Amino acid sequence: RNAQGMTVVLFGATGDLAKRKLFPALYNLYLENKMPEAFSVVGLGRTPYTDDVFQTKVEQSLRTYSRRTVEEEGLHQFLSSFRYCTFDATETTSYVKLNGLIEQREQELEIPENRLFYLSVAPGLIDVITSNLNTSGVSQTSGWKRLIVEKPFGSDLASARELNQKLRIAFHEDEIYRIDHYLGKPMVQNLETLILVNPVLDSLFNHELIANVQITASETVGVETRAAYYDHAGAIRDMVQNHMLQLVMMTALHLPKKAQPEEIRSKKVEIMEALRPIQGENLQTDLIRAQYGEGDLFGIDVPAYREEPGVPHSSMNDTYIAARLFIDNEFWKGIPFYIRTGKRLDKKSTRIVFEFKERPAQLEDYRPEGLAPNLLILEISPNESISLQVNMKDPSANKFKPSTITFTTNSSNQPEAYELLLHDAMLGNATFFANWKEVELSWQWIQPLLEAFEENQLPLVTYAAGSTGPKEAKQLLANDHANWW
Ligand code: BG6
Repeated sequence: RNAQGMTVVLFGATGDLAKRKLFPALYNLYLENKMPEAFSVVGLGRTPYTDDVFQTKVEQSLRTYSRRTVEEEGLHQFLSSFRYCTFDATETTSYVKLNGLIEQREQELEIPENRLFYLSVAPGLIDVITSNLNTSGVSQTSGWKRLIVEKPFGSDLASARELNQKLRIAFHEDEIYRIDHYLGKPMVQNLETLILVNPVLDSLFNHELIANVQITASETVGVETRAAYYDHAGAIRDMVQNHMLQLVMMTALHLPKKAQPEEIRSKKVEIMEALRPIQGENLQTDLIRAQYGEGDLFGIDVPAYREEPGVPHSSMNDTYIAARLFIDNEFWKGIPFYIRTGKRLDKKSTRIVFEFKERPAQLEDYRPEGLAPNLLILEISPNESISLQVNMKDPSANKFKPSTITFTTNSSNQPEAYELLLHDAMLGNATFFANWKEVELSWQWIQPLLEAFEENQLPLVTYAAGSTGPKEAKQLLANDHANWW
């Protein structure tokens, strides 16, 4: 149990994220005795609510979205930690009121001035909030203070830098926790130690053995009701700049021993620095940009992206990106990383696949039918598993066929990303948050692509909704005599 008391100050407490993820995360941590003995949660929003109404909203959220069933015992005590403060981010008087409420609760509960600020607000409000937090004294505490900030972290390199400077008005870098919920997925958090504790897997991490690495984040949902944001962001900003590049960094880490958080982060930075930019001619050959057309998803006709509510009919926005990447360091030299992510694909699956080389020397004079490469498959979500694809002889047909040995975690009730990440932030562990250098390097890497997209330097191809993606993405790998797994 986290012994020190603290206050969670939640900007955007009436929003969707709070309802679906944050209240349930706090509650599940509470049920698992991971919350401090005494804690206070102050929710902020523009809509006027009383504490009672707010607590009822929190309770409804738990009953609807909590992964653990709500337990009547202790529920009242949990809810009584919540207070609401009607808040206008641009009004200095709001901060005076907020400060009073936080202090009053700290005194009532006899807890130190440890304050965890969670910013789940429109990006345009961030600078006014951080500068007001600073001038009003809310963020000047005698205990620790930390800031969790949600994506999007800027919309290009310049705006990300600007946003970072704004945060730094009130917080030091080591007090800023930039959320990338992919880093909260349990399998991603396991990646580093999984290899370490399994000598067999570790031995597969061998430059001579790996043919390529494939990272897929495929979704079945379309743009949903988020056209206003998504049509400007596209898959490139929404998924590639953050989640996909974080997965690349985490996959490529390969640390020789249990590392300290700082070592992990500096290694991630090294990987980003070694990630070869896609530019010049490679823009045409190594990157596929696509948008979904109409199609059939699980037997239902679904509209093309351009026909979705709120999307302009002439939209040139990408809903799918595939790319071939190279990490120019000693270990990964010459081993391609293929990444792909898209909406309205045939299945929801995030996974990392290591494809291993064949052994040409051994197979030269022995090339039985049906052989496939060995694969190590790490399923990240929605299901978690580790599989190994091997070649087995099918006695009835007297030929080989690939078989898969799968280990699942066997737990249908895994902690959610937000739970793990909130808990880490409470404990001051920033390992699984994106630090500024990583974010800046990611934007730096993406920036030329954004500009090329802007100038329509590369085609925007289409794929049918419900398919596995555009044929051009298949060709990208076929050019290397590979295919997607
Ligand atoms: C979010 C993106 O960050 O991640 C969404 O904004 C996307 O567009 C989501 O759907 C995917 O997350 P998950 O956990 O469902 O793979």
